[in-house]
Amino acid sequence: MRLTVQGTRQITVKAKNAMIKIMTIFGTRPEAVKMAPLIRVLRACGDVEALCCVTGQHRHMLDVPLRQFGITPDRDLDIMAENQTLPHITSRALCGLDGVLASERPDMALVHGDTSTTFAAALAAFYNKIPVGHVEAGLRTGDRYSPFPEEMNRSMTARLAALHFCPTASNRGNLLSEGISEGIFVTGNTVIDALGLTVVRDYEFETRGLAPLPERFILATLHRRENYGQAMDDILHAFADILDACPDVSLILPVHLSPVVRAAVYGVLGGHPRARLVEPLPVTDMHNLMARCELVMTDSGGLQEEAPALGKPVLVLRRETERPEAVAAGTVKLSGVSRERVRGDALALLTDRAEYERMARAANPYGDGRASERIRDAILWHFGLRGQKPDDFISG
Ligand code: UD1
Ligand code: UDP
Repeated sequence: MRLTVQGTRQITVKAKNAMIKIMTIFGTRPEAVKMAPLIRVLRACGDVEALCCVTGQHRHMLDVPLRQFGITPDRDLDIMAENQTLPHITSRALCGLDGVLASERPDMALVHGDTSTTFAAALAAFYNKIPVGHVEAGLRTGDRYSPFPEEMNRSMTARLAALHFCPTASNRGNLLSEGISEGIFVTGNTVIDALGLTVVRDYEFETRGLAPLPERFILATLHRRENYGQAMDDILHAFADILDACPDVSLILPVHLSPVVRAAVYGVLGGHPRARLVEPLPVTDMHNLMARCELVMTDSGGLQEEAPALGKPVLVLRRETERPEAVAAGTVKLSGVSRERVRGDALALLTDRAEYERMARAANPYGDGRASERIRDAILWHFGLRGQKPDDFISG
């Protein structure tokens, strides 16, 4: 079965009888994947006029999930430039969004996570005195430089936001410890809602040449700015070591479009017979590939949430994580960025069945597939359109 996610209708005129106008604002691939289920729910709600504005911080990597989830943005700032810098993204998004928000005057701007688009959107909304709802709020490492610049993006967004939609209770704890105590809802993560739309048993891959899949394979991604340079090189050499030590194992690595990442990945692994370096995958391919892999190795945030829900062990290729819940559940291990440690952790899982089984348990501390509904209900409650405050998501 080939899957295209259906059902998100574009509404360009104010829905009949809509009471509030909500604008979702985002710009990158992970934000699109995680906002899509929420847009779907908002657009189905008669009380809401749901508008969508994208900055285009990512272009191709944003457009693919938008297409797959059937979302046509109402506004598109198209800011991406090759080798874009953080000031470029932030300033272009801030100025563009200021104009959009000033003309549309939504009742609330909904932003997601911790990208530069997120922070710029929250700031632009603040300048326009438009309340901000922050989806995926409260994640923290406590280190302002790691992940960089995301830790500060999400901290500053929290200060600007009126409503905070935390995936887990521990995310709420982080906000409370920063003195933010109003407008917090524990909703689960919308990424679990997205998996409910994308993963199917008899999935047929959209990307030509992906199937037939190798019998045993690691699915890997890399893109974090703080891993640029030595850390990324060490991780890539660890991948080569792992393949050399396990002749029956392959690696599938969808290569991020960042020129820095591409140079590093192709420099170390280009030409390796069992390293399949592919272009960024459509999200349905990615999620269904994850459901079939043996092991995930990544510095991505989203993959740390998705893989545990699919019963796949994850080795996190970073020095820290703002997602400790799956580490505590035992399905995610923080491997760091040293060649020896990454190689050792992967070989332990690939060669020791008992160790593998210990980690390969479906654990899903991040949601029950109803996060988008809770966020919608919290917004309706906030605006007095729903009598009861929605119940918190309780993990496990
Ligand atoms: C951004 C986010 C990061 C998120 C990641 C998801 C910031 C600061 N970082 O990082 O939090 O985890 O997205 O992938 O907001 N590029 C293309 N085509 C695309 C997408 C990107 O060519 O479709 C290129 C850009 O031109 C740029 C590079 O990739 O040179 C990096 O993109 P950028 O948005 O600056 O940062 P990411 O590392 O993707
Ligand atoms: N993803 C995708 N295609 C790919 C790689 C990732 O659709 O080739 C999805 C992945 O499943 C997750 C999201 O993109 O839903 C994560 O994006 P990324 O790792 O770029 O960002 P992060 O989560 O680290 O912010």
